[in-house]
Amino acid sequence: MKTSRRPRYAVLISGRGSNLRAILEANLDADCAGVISSRSNASGLEIAHAHDVPTATLVNRSFADRAAFDEALDEALEHWNVDWVVLAGFMRILTDGFVRKWQGKLVNIHPSLLPDFPGLHPHQQALDAGVDTTGCTVHLVEPGDVDGGRVLAQASVPVHDGDTADRLADRVLHAEHQLYPETLGRLFAGDLPMPHPP
Ligand code: GRF
Repeated sequence: MKTSRRPRYAVLISGRGSNLRAILEANLDADCAGVISSRSNASGLEIAHAHDVPTATLVNRSFADRAAFDEALDEALEHWNVDWVVLAGFMRILTDGFVRKWQGKLVNIHPSLLPDFPGLHPHQQALDAGVDTTGCTVHLVEPGDVDGGRVLAQASVPVHDGDTADRLADRVLHAEHQLYPETLGRLFAGDLPMPHPP
């Protein structure tokens, strides 16, 4: 049983790591125990190093299959003794076994107002649908649909005339950098009403 120490979390990334940076710079009342990248050249790893956060890189080709990858991931998280697993641009589908084990402790951010525009290219999906507002969603990751878990928090972002997917993505990302640290801070502190399972 875990004691009354500060919550420990790990962040899983695959690339740029701007959400990781926002989370680390928010000085949450929690300890980032480590960052795991699924790509060895992810620039987010530099951000972790700059904050003296331990890192691990797990790349696909070193594992026989998805289950073996997720086992290694689970081992690293157990080794770091984390309470929470924070996905921030982690470009891998996790196995149901892994998701079930960490259910309720596994959090993701997606750049749309879920349930709208799940999956790939959400900004282009928003432009194609002609909506005038999109945004971002912090949600639990649960077995089943990608991006389909319970919603913890959302922020709206306007779509402007003439937006490209890149311009819209920049505006949404700015909102992500506010929403993700703030939501994690409340979640880790037990201040966020947890939505009931469907
Ligand atoms: C963000 O837009 C996030 O919502 C999505 O992937 C992107 C990651 O960006 N899941 P970064 O690596 O945090 O800069």
